[in-house]
Amino acid sequence: MDDIKEVIAKLIENAIENSEINTQEIKEYIEIPKEESNGDYAFPCFKLAKVLRQAPNQIAENLKNNIITDGTVIDKIESVSGYLNFFVDKSQIVKSAIEKFDIQKKDYGKLDVGNGKRVLVEYSSPNIAKPFHIGHLKTTIIGNALYNIYKYCGYETISLNHLGDYGTQFAKLIEGYKRWGKEYDLSTNAIDKLSEIYKRINELCEEDENVLEECRQTFKKLEGGDEYCVKLWNEFKELSLKEFDKIYDLLNVKFDSYKGEAFYSDKMQEVIDILEKNGKLTESQGAKVVDLTDKGIKAPCIIQKSNGSSIYATRDLAAILYRARTYDFDKCIYVVGEEQNLHFKQVFEVAKYLDLDEKYTNGLEHVSYGMIFLPEGKMSTRKGNFVKVEDLLNESISKAKEIMQDRSLEDKEKIAKQVGIGAVIFEDLKESRIKNQIFDLNEALNFNGETGPYVQYMAVRTKSVLDKAGYVPNKDDVDFNVLTDDSSIKLMKLINNFDKIILNSMDKNEPSIITRYSVDVAKAYSIFYNNNKILSEDRESQNARLYLTYMTKITLENALKLLGIEVPEKM
Ligand code: ARG
Repeated sequence: MDDIKEVIAKLIENAIENSEINTQEIKEYIEIPKEESNGDYAFPCFKLAKVLRQAPNQIAENLKNNIITDGTVIDKIESVSGYLNFFVDKSQIVKSAIEKFDIQKKDYGKLDVGNGKRVLVEYSSPNIAKPFHIGHLKTTIIGNALYNIYKYCGYETISLNHLGDYGTQFAKLIEGYKRWGKEYDLSTNAIDKLSEIYKRINELCEEDENVLEECRQTFKKLEGGDEYCVKLWNEFKELSLKEFDKIYDLLNVKFDSYKGEAFYSDKMQEVIDILEKNGKLTESQGAKVVDLTDKGIKAPCIIQKSNGSSIYATRDLAAILYRARTYDFDKCIYVVGEEQNLHFKQVFEVAKYLDLDEKYTNGLEHVSYGMIFLPEGKMSTRKGNFVKVEDLLNESISKAKEIMQDRSLEDKEKIAKQVGIGAVIFEDLKESRIKNQIFDLNEALNFNGETGPYVQYMAVRTKSVLDKAGYVPNKDDVDFNVLTDDSSIKLMKLINNFDKIILNSMDKNEPSIITRYSVDVAKAYSIFYNNNKILSEDRESQNARLYLTYMTKITLENALKLLGIEVPEKM
C-alpha cells in the first residue's frame, strides 16, 4: 500500500506549501496506527514543528482544513492531538494490497535489500564426540531460519558449522580408546560410547598423574600431525558427524562448510604475530593476553596459555581472518548461546587489532539466545541429565502421528514427520530468542494453541478451499468491494505487511517476529473463514474470497518456509 502512502504524502505536501519539505520525507514519517479508531494511516505533525514553527496540534488543524481530496482514496481526515489521521476507502486498501501481491505471487514477500551483499551465518557448531544437546538444537533452528531470511532478503548466504573438533579432550579420548576401544562397538550410538570412554579416562587421569602426562604427550602428537592420532581423531569426527547428520536430516538443515576449530589450529600464529606487532599482547601470569579494560571489558582476552597452547578465542580470531579473506563478507553472524556473550565481546574487540578493513569488524555480530530447559530441569551433559535430541525429534513425530491417528490421510508417515518436526521448530522460534525457555513438547504439539501445527493446519485449510473450488481466480476478476468487511480487511492488511515483517525480523535477527506474524495471519484467516461463505453461487464474491484465500496460502507457506517448516498436503 505504498502507493496509498504516496497519495497521502502528496496531499500533505500540497497543503503545506513549504519547499523545504518533500513527498519522500513526508512518506517516511507516515505511520500505521495501532488502534483502528485512529484510521489507516497517521501523520505525526510534530515532525514538522521545527520547520513550520508551529505547535503540532495547530499544524494538524491547519492541514486538515487545507487538504483537498478528490474523495476517491481518502474517506475522512481527523486531527487528534497533533496527529493527522487518515481513513482510507476500504476498497482502495484492498486494491492496493492485491496489486502488490499479484506482482510476486509465489515469491510474495521476497526482497532485494541484500542484493550484491554476502552474509555468513554460523550456527549449530556442536562438539565432536560429545552429545548434541538441546541448546545446539536451538542454535541450529534459529540459525537455519536466519539463513533463510537473509536469503529471501536478497543476500548471498553461506552457512557455516564451526565444529568443536579441537582440544585436549581428543588426546584423552585417543588414550582411552587405546586402552578400552575393543570393548565398544562404535557402529551404533558412537557418541554415547565415546562419552563413556572419555569419562573413564578422565577418572583415570584424576587417579594417576602419569596417565594425564601421557594424554598431554598425545595431544602434542595430535597437533604435530602424528598419523595414528590423526587417523583416530578423524574417525571420531566422522562417527560424530554421522550422528549429527541424522538430526540435520530430520530438520532439513544443510551447511556450506564444516570447517571446525581444528582447521584454524595452524592459522593462529598469524593472529599472535599481528597482535604482537601492534603491541597489543601483554604477559599475565605467564599467559599472553590482550587487555580490554579501555573497552569496558574487565576480563582480558587470553590468546595463548602459559604452557604455550592456544585457546578457543585465538581460533575464533584466526577464523575471522580466514573468513574475511575467503568470503569477503559484509556480515558474519554467530548464533551462539548467551553463556558466550563475554567471549564474543572480547573476540570482536580484539579483531579490531588485526589490521582488518573496518567493513569486516563492523560486520561481526553475536546473535545470542537464552537458556533452554526441559520441564524436568536444565539439560546438562555434565550432570548426565539430558535427552538425546534425536530422540526428542522422533518422539515429537510419533506423538504427532498419535494425535492424527483417526484422520484418514494418505502418507501418514510423511505428514507426521512434517508436523512433528514443524512443532519443535516453531516452539523454539516462538519467543524472542533472548528469553529463557522451558521446552514442553506437549505444548508444542497442541493443535489448538499458538503452535506450528495450528499454523500448518490453517495453511492446509487454504489449500483445501482452493482445491474444492478447483481454480485460483485472476486478480482482474476480483471485485475489491467484496473484501471490505472487517474480517477480510483485517486479514488483507496483515498480509500486506509481510515484507515489512520479514525486513524487521532480519534487522533484529529475530525469527520470532515471523513466527508470531504467522499465528496472527492464521487466526485472521480462521475468523475470515467463519464469517464469510467462500464457495458460493455468487461467482463475484467467490472469486474475491478465493483470491484472499490464495494470498493467505502463499503468505503462510512462505512464512513457514522461512522458519524451516514444511506445510503438509493434508492434515
Ligand atoms: N562448539 C561450541 C559449543 O558447543 C560453540 C561454537 C561457537 N562458535 C564459535 N565461533 N565460537 O559451545
